[in-house]
Amino acid sequence: MGLIPGEVIEAVRLRSDIVEVVSRYVKLKKKGKYFTGSCPFHQDRMPSFTVTPDKQAFHCFGCNTGGDVFRFLMLKENLTFIEAVGTLAQQAGITLPSTENPAERERERRWGRLRQINSLAKDYFRDIFKYHDSAAVARRYMSGRGLTTEVLERFQVGFALPDWGSLLEFLGEKGYQPREVAEAGLAIKSERGKYYDRFRKRVMFPIWDVTGRVIGFGGRVLDDSIPKYINTSETTLFIKSHVLYGLHHARGAVREKGYAIIVEGYMDVITAYRYGIANVVASLGTSLTREQGRLLMNYSRNVIIAYDSDAAGVAATMRGLDLLQELGCQVRVVNIPDGKDPDDFLQRQGNHAWESLINQAPSLIEYKLQQAVSIKPAKTVSDKLEVMLRVFPNLVGIDSEIEKEEGLKAMARLLNLSPETVAGEFKRFEANSGKKSTNTDNIAKTKHNIFNNEKKLDTKAKAEAGILRLILEDPSLGEIVLEELGEKPFSSNYFQNIFKYVLAAYKKPAYQPAELFNYIEDDEQALLSFLLTLEIPGDNYIQIMRGYLESINRCKRQERREILLKEINEAEKSGNDWLLNDLWREYIVLKGITEAEWTGDHGRVASLMQENQHILKTGSWKHPREGSDGN
Ligand code: CTP
Ligand code: MN
Repeated sequence: MGLIPGEVIEAVRLRSDIVEVVSRYVKLKKKGKYFTGSCPFHQDRMPSFTVTPDKQAFHCFGCNTGGDVFRFLMLKENLTFIEAVGTLAQQAGITLPSTENPAERERERRWGRLRQINSLAKDYFRDIFKYHDSAAVARRYMSGRGLTTEVLERFQVGFALPDWGSLLEFLGEKGYQPREVAEAGLAIKSERGKYYDRFRKRVMFPIWDVTGRVIGFGGRVLDDSIPKYINTSETTLFIKSHVLYGLHHARGAVREKGYAIIVEGYMDVITAYRYGIANVVASLGTSLTREQGRLLMNYSRNVIIAYDSDAAGVAATMRGLDLLQELGCQVRVVNIPDGKDPDDFLQRQGNHAWESLINQAPSLIEYKLQQAVSIKPAKTVSDKLEVMLRVFPNLVGIDSEIEKEEGLKAMARLLNLSPETVAGEFKRFEANSGKKSTNTDNIAKTKHNIFNNEKKLDTKAKAEAGILRLILEDPSLGEIVLEELGEKPFSSNYFQNIFKYVLAAYKKPAYQPAELFNYIEDDEQALLSFLLTLEIPGDNYIQIMRGYLESINRCKRQERREILLKEINEAEKSGNDWLLNDLWREYIVLKGITEAEWTGDHGRVASLMQENQHILKTGSWKHPREGSDGN
């Protein structure tokens, strides 16, 4: 960021209508000041997705995704911020000033060339596969594995010739240096400084990014030689652990079906497609990474892992399960019989058998239990405890009480124990583990706690949200808040950060809240878009603000009373009478304020408040020495 001047970003924002942009992906319905629809970022039945045109923001109450028009495009098209601004600028007919920074410009140019190399290589391999005499063996091999012309076309399957330099030569004619081909991960520099093709005599599977651009390849041998597959070496463009093979094809189907299936390999994805199963992506090898999980979650939180059922596959499944649960996914596991992979299974048994595997896919908890007892049957009490302890951490990570209960029941069944016993053990485990959610992704969790939805906010957070909403509308109100609540008025850092940014931004002419999206982190963006959906209850902002401030002060008094009770308890134990006296005095005044508020006795509230102020200033409990000596 920071490369495109702020004014230009704001000009692009003003010329782009968020409703229009979102409508390209989501069917929106007008509802008063808002538009609503089904959220494109999670499986949404509600519809929980809101667009607020006058704030130029979107927010989903289901998955807490939110932001401005740029963020929407970034998420939908997997673009960087710069790319999103660029796309909308182009559509709005705004020319972005060319970037000032020469290093940046050079980087852009090189990336462009790496993309072109990949795209040209894809066409080259494809042509060879289709027409070259030397590729006959590859064509036979692929049709032997059941691939029709249509499928080959869809997955752009190609072939690399057996010799050492034909790709380099082809790209050289197009004006690309061997050095660049190596930089794209498609050539290798020998120790003697000579370049040669990385892929030789292999069937080539292009690998795409989410938008369908080729960023790398996997190449398979035609026989049993080793290594069976090699991939493009890691490049600036291709980071294997960040890619899900087939996602750009699968994402529509993932959304439609409401879940994604993750498999290990290229051929699993391709064969699944051949059998009409399109919501499938491959993690390309065995270990699913956090980046891959996050990528998938843009389309669905429901995931079925269908890895090979060999030992490596099971171990990878276990790791994938925990990772996906941490990210907040609902995970199930397909058990493919006899150590096979989805490709073998489908070809042997067909898609009806596959569907029943999917339908019977055990939940994460059930799968873990099955695995735990299959390694070592749980006969003795200590075996059973061991199994429980292995699975409890996952249970703790589950948000839904119903699912938790299902998990406990399954555990009781499998271990041949009563549900009460298992539930009792689980309670103990939960209490001992201290924190409630060892297994949950931190970002997702904090986000959840702070603004899961309006109803769940406690009184104080609600008032704080209300105040921040008002300040977004009229930042000058921030001064009042600083005066009343001090330098750090908000209890969450997210609120505090947004507050800080409003105060910094609003002094500029033509301030509009949506600008803030430029400065803040993803999580804060989601919070900001949530705040912007809140209605301000009336026109008299000062009066509304006073209401919130009172509410916060009430909460603070309540918190203070709870602390006082604890301190009173301790002072009683230690026999510190003068301290005890002061603590009681403060407590009684605070209690009096609450009672006077209840009865609507404003005069009494005011005088008790004054007394409270006085206590806070002079209380001997605050400065025991000075208090007892000086007075
Ligand atoms: N893989 C890899 N490098 C290897 C072996 C495997 O990158 N040397 C990746 C590939 O993406 C492969 C996946 O891991 O598709 C699964 O590997 P494996 O199960 O060994 O291969 P299959 O997909 O079953 O391959 P095929 O059906 O073509 O034999
Ligand atoms: Mn296979």
